[in-house]
Amino acid sequence: MKKPFDLHADYQPEDFEFNKKFKKPVKEAIERYPAGRQQSAVMPLLDLAQRQVAVEGAAANPLYGGWIPRAAMDHIAEILDMQKVKVYEVVSFYSMYNTAPVGKYLIQFCSTTPCWLRGSDAIIKAVIEHLGVGVGETTNDGKFTLMEVECLGACVNAPMVQINDDYYEDLTPDNMREVLNSLAEDLKPTIGSQTGRSASMPCSGPTCLEKQAKKAKVV
Ligand code: FES
Repeated sequence: MKKPFDLHADYQPEDFEFNKKFKKPVKEAIERYPAGRQQSAVMPLLDLAQRQVAVEGAAANPLYGGWIPRAAMDHIAEILDMQKVKVYEVVSFYSMYNTAPVGKYLIQFCSTTPCWLRGSDAIIKAVIEHLGVGVGETTNDGKFTLMEVECLGACVNAPMVQINDDYYEDLTPDNMREVLNSLAEDLKPTIGSQTGRSASMPCSGPTCLEKQAKKAKVV
């Protein structure tokens, strides 16, 4: 679960503005919708606000990752001419919007049935032991936050986690620790399957379209 939505927490900044880099995508997102329907851009604008905060957080000390301050929600309500509470409702509903500061790397564990059957409990335990924080907590250096979510749609390569925008799949406690070690050094671990299989192909290799798979160099 994500952290509770607290409008009055002391970490809430007084104001928020989209900076120069983000103003253009904000304008483009709004222009995708017909006149009078600009409120439909609320979700992309929230995503952009979260990404702007993440950029700021990556240069801060201590570090922090993308989240959406109340001032950003109010600013978006103003831009889109909608009631603030409608924006709060969207933000508090979806797990992809963070309503409180998180670490630079937000680890979202999937523990829904297919991942659970394939060992998500062992992955969560390994991460907790490796980082020394529990689910819902952030490491002291601001680098990692742990969060548990529902199915992320990659069940075929279970167990898996999402870290920021990337999926890490076919996890074992060992390869999960390797991913964490790389991120701790701000390196870029391989995304997708950690056992090297291509996309969601059977572990034993293709069972159909074998010639095409060879031609495409995926085996
Ligand atoms: S159950 Fe984990 S991705 Fe679907």
